[in-house]
Formats: sequence, structure tokens, C-alpha cells
Amino acid sequence: MPVITCIEDLKRLHKARTPKMFYDYAESGSYTEQTFHENTTDFAKIKLRQKVAVDMSNRSTATDIIGFPATMPVALAPVGLTGMQHADGEILAARAAEKFGVPFCLSTMSICSIEDVAENTTKPFMFQLYVMKDQEFLASIIERAKQANCSALVLTLDLQILGQRHKDMKNGLSAPPKFTLPTLLDLATRWRWGIGMMQTKRRHFGNIVGHAKGVGDTSSLSSWTAEQFDERLDWDKIAKIRDMWGGKLILKGILDPDDARIAADFGADAIIVSNHGGRQLDGALSSIRMLPHIVEAVGDRIEVQMDSGIRSGQDVLKALALGAHSTWIGRAFIHGLGAMGEVGVTRALEVIHKELDTTMALCGERNVKDLGRQNLLLPEGFL
Ligand code: FNR
Repeated sequence: MPVITCIEDLKRLHKARTPKMFYDYAESGSYTEQTFHENTTDFAKIKLRQKVAVDMSNRSTATDIIGFPATMPVALAPVGLTGMQHADGEILAARAAEKFGVPFCLSTMSICSIEDVAENTTKPFMFQLYVMKDQEFLASIIERAKQANCSALVLTLDLQILGQRHKDMKNGLSAPPKFTLPTLLDLATRWRWGIGMMQTKRRHFGNIVGHAKGVGDTSSLSSWTAEQFDERLDWDKIAKIRDMWGGKLILKGILDPDDARIAADFGADAIIVSNHGGRQLDGALSSIRMLPHIVEAVGDRIEVQMDSGIRSGQDVLKALALGAHSTWIGRAFIHGLGAMGEVGVTRALEVIHKELDTTMALCGERNVKDLGRQNLLLPEGFL
């Protein structure tokens, strides 16, 4: 097994082992990718304050995420096509998360269905919903999430319309992949991926195929999906979905203090400060820069979580110190999955956990709940 010391190692292996079409799908942002890049470079601008001669014994990274205990304030974010990064990817990632003691959230756009993941795991997981126009499909997928005993609904609000990713268009991204000469040549060098895919029947959007009106086969799937995002999503519709679901609700994709105030008035269990990993509004500020403003606006009224740009335990610490209650990782665990399947996701979690624990100690703190501005040096103009 290769020595993995950081997420960057997993990223390199992911790139080497996964078809280009799917690696690029993960490692890209919309349009000029400015926001995608700033999500990570803005983390690097925040500096940490070292504190010495403090008793660092009995440290704890444990927390609660919307009331559920977690080993650390990190959850696995919903990622579409996870099962194309590695065969049965959603099941493997969910298993790694449950063994590690952190939440896993299944995307609407998953390859493994809600039922596939429920049958192959032992703990409840969260389900992420994209609001689709087809009302029958919407009602049925919410019902399926209830039947599977999902612990929370994560409602994504920043994708009523798709931001364009140039790489996906150039690669002709699809699930299952379209076999052209370049994709076949590419696949020939990713034999582990190919063997895995040959061994599984799950190669298309499992939550959608056969369940949505008029979508019985994979050929009509892509066009149905692209047309289905509900451009008319508004707070009235969100309220209807809240009533249909009736359980814990997290609103994902809040990037503005005004929207955060509406979300807090609305009464969700948490919000996720997110720009979708730089995949939607290119030109938006990074999540980490918007976070303190949103915490200031609503932090005393609602659990504020954040994602976009986290690649290390140091990044998690910085987000917590700027007021996030907890964080989510997308690409950091996807790199692990594409590199080494379930073992890779576990390794990603171990790496981030160890980095968080060590960095916390060197900052002179013993509990993630005590982290705050006292641990940071912010550059001029950051706030
Ligand atoms: C995503 N994200 C996402 N979000 C969501 O609500 N539903 C989805 O299906 C997807 N799909 C998806 C695919 C891929 C390849 C990526 C990278 C991301 C966004 C995701 O949940 C999360 O907000 C970001 O990944 C966080 O940014 P980082 O950690 O990847 O920088």
C-alpha cells in the first residue's frame, strides 16, 4: 500500500487510477474556476497563533452535528456520481463514514440508490435533495428517504440551474460513460476501475432510473435530469418540502447573510455556508470569507456549518475558529475513494482527524468547541 500522508497524496492516486472524465468531473469548477481556486487559497491566507506551555492532555475533537454525536466536526458531503469514481462508491464511502463515526450524506445524483446504501450499511445516513419539477418523483424520493430511515434531509438551494463546467463538456461526461476511442484508450490504463465496474451492476443514477416518470432506461436519463432542476424553487416550495419531509432539515448553499437570516427565521436545523465547491456561481467569494459574516448574522440562532475548500485538518480548525459549528468535505474524501475505495476514504478521514488534533494542540486548545478568533491571525481586509 502506498504511504499516504496528506490529501494531496490521495488526489495524485485518484488522478492516476480513475478515468479522466470522472477525475475532471470532481476536480473542476464552473467557468473560469476563480471561486473554485479561491476556496482553497483563501484558507491559506489565514494564519494560526501558536501557544506554548499549555497542558495539552485529554484533547477531544468530538462534537454533535444537528444533535448526532460525531468523532470530529466533519461530515461527508453529497457528491453526485460518487459511484463512478469507484464501483459502489456511495456504499463504500457510507461504510467508511459510519466506522469512523462521522455523518455521510447521499446525493440525489448518486449511482447507488437510497435502498442500495441502506441495505449495505447499519446506521442512518443523510439524504440530499435536489428539487425537481416532477412532483410525483419529488414525493416518491422523499418517501423513499423516510422509508430508509434517513437521519436528515439536506436541501440544496444553490442549483436551480447548472453552472457550466468546461471540462465536463469537452470530456462528454456521462454515466454510464460513452465509449469513444479516447475514452477507451484512457480506460485501458485504469484497469482497477474497469475491473470494479465490471463487477457491479450499478452504473447509472440509481435514485432516478426506473423511479421518475418517463425514465425507464439510461438513454433518457441524462436529458430528463438536465431538464428537471426546478428553476421556480422559492421559500414557499421549501416550506412544502419541509412539511412533506417532517424530519431534521439542513439548508445547503447559503452564501449571503440576508439569505442566512431568512433561513434562520424559516426554522431549519442547520445551514451550510457553501458555494457548492466553486461549481455554481463563479465569481462568488469563497465560503471561508463569507462564513464570519453569516455567523455574525445568525450564529446565535441556528447551527452554522460550512464547506468548500477544505483539504486538511488545519482548514477544519480555521473554519471552526471563524465560527462554524462543523464542516463538510467533498473532494477530500472523493480523492480517497478514487484512489483506494473504502480504505482511501478512511485514510482521508484519518489524515484530517490527525491534522486537526495536532494543530489544535499546537494552538494551545484541547477541545474543538473552544476554538475561536483567539487562535487566528487574519490578513488585512479579510473580513
Ligand atoms: C458536489 N456537490 C454536490 N452538492 C450537492 O448538494 N449535491 C450533489 O449532487 C453534489 N455533487 C457534487 C459533485 C462533485 C464532483 C463535487 C466536487 C461536489 C457539492 C458538495 O456537496 C460540496 O458542497 C463541495 O464538494 C464542497 O467543496 P469541496 O470540499 O469539494 O471543496
